[in-house]
Amino acid sequence: MLPLRQSACSWWSCLLNSRAPCVKTLVHGDQRRLFNTSNSRMTIMPAWVIDRYGSNDVLRFTKNAGFPIINYPNEVVVQVHAAGLNPIDVSMRGGYGAATMAMKRDPLNINQSGSEFPLILGRDMSGVIMECGLDVAPAYFKEGDEVWAAIPPWKQGSLAEFVVLSANEVSKKPKCLSHIEAAAVPYVAATAWSALVNTGGLNKDNCAKKRILILGGSGGVGTFSIQMLKAWGAHVTVTCSQNAERLVRGLGVDHVVDYTAGPVEVPLRALEKFDLVLDNVGGDTESWALGLLKPWCGAKYVTLVTPFLRNTDRLGIADGMLQTGVTVASKALKHLSKGVHYRWGMFAPNGLALDDISEMVDAGKIRAVVEEEFTFSQVPQAMLKVEKGHARGKTVVKISSGEDSSE
Ligand SMILES: NC(=O)c1ccc[n+]([C@@H]2O[C@H](COP(=O)([O-])OP(=O)(O)OC[C@H]3O[C@@H](n4cnc5c(N)ncnc54)[C@H](OP(=O)(O)O)[C@@H]3O)[C@@H](O)[C@H]2O)c1
Repeated sequence: MLPLRQSACSWWSCLLNSRAPCVKTLVHGDQRRLFNTSNSRMTIMPAWVIDRYGSNDVLRFTKNAGFPIINYPNEVVVQVHAAGLNPIDVSMRGGYGAATMAMKRDPLNINQSGSEFPLILGRDMSGVIMECGLDVAPAYFKEGDEVWAAIPPWKQGSLAEFVVLSANEVSKKPKCLSHIEAAAVPYVAATAWSALVNTGGLNKDNCAKKRILILGGSGGVGTFSIQMLKAWGAHVTVTCSQNAERLVRGLGVDHVVDYTAGPVEVPLRALEKFDLVLDNVGGDTESWALGLLKPWCGAKYVTLVTPFLRNTDRLGIADGMLQTGVTVASKALKHLSKGVHYRWGMFAPNGLALDDISEMVDAGKIRAVVEEEFTFSQVPQAMLKVEKGHARGKTVVKISSGEDSSE
């Protein structure tokens, strides 16, 4: 029996170790199989796919997408009830990360031409387990369990009726959330966890009285991060548009700075310095945000807006990684000499973190922030909504037309 739940490794190391994935897997000779239902084998399913990169018109609905196959004994097939969308879906639709992801994609899931198309977008999922691989211990997951997951960018996504995932990537869905609500959380939660906990060094026991600044508090990552940090006792300041103030205050924020009122660094400089800055905005923020940190106290600036994938897309894997390493190292050194730490945050799939987050949700400490819900037939409209920006929480697509006890 394989160890079912392993601690999360970074997205970075997952990519570097493409031959040694963070989720330990073995192929059994008879393990590749198709899902059986009512004694008939399902080989196709409805899904939204893209056959080339481009703008929204590349989205195509099909009833004949390939049914996901269990290739490894620790995988599960999940019937998707709801799929959450993120800015990365729009980026992936346009080809972002293609070169990097090709390195990581499971060769068993790529068709004979070596192409990743048809590609299914959708990185967030809430649904019900339909089948478990042979090494998935029933103590962890069994058929019929309601689960949620953030789907790594190198896997087929959740804008489909079924998806196959490693058991390490899924987690039991919080009982108090509907599938629609649950699908709004995993990708931003796993990203926030990676940035704030794994990179930023924060946890529930060391956050009390820490001063945290979130640049960009009103979107998916921001609205989740605010709640997690407040649950852990931190003092949280955010920047957002004036018309998002009510939303973020409702999530517990202590101090709000309206970035549309003028150069935002000016009012921020007047505040007491911070222990950590989470940057969801990018652009010119790096030129002033590190100056808001307490020097020589281990304070960190963690940005989620990095050129990592763009480097590898543009320069290829080896040169792109080299460029990335040089950029991060030189910036980290430059800022270290001023007594503050400069870091890049990355999404990392993390079922164990979702277990903890599920408990926080069921304890009433974190809620899902769903801005708008779309039907399966409205996926193009949902993608346009995300593409337009100005998110106030998350955009979610209801997938399954079946019974949903929690909705
Ligand atoms: N590195 C990774 O692995 C990773 C993972 C997830 C996300 N990300 C990146 O992190 C960023 C945030 O992700 P998300 O899912 O939270 O995006 P989102 O849901 O689209 O939210 C972005 C929010 O930022 C606000 N905003 C825009 N410009 C701003 C500014 N100058 N100052 C303050 N707020 C501003 C937007 O509202 P208004 O425009 O109305 O103000 C919106 O509410 C994105 O760039 C995303 O690509 C990176």
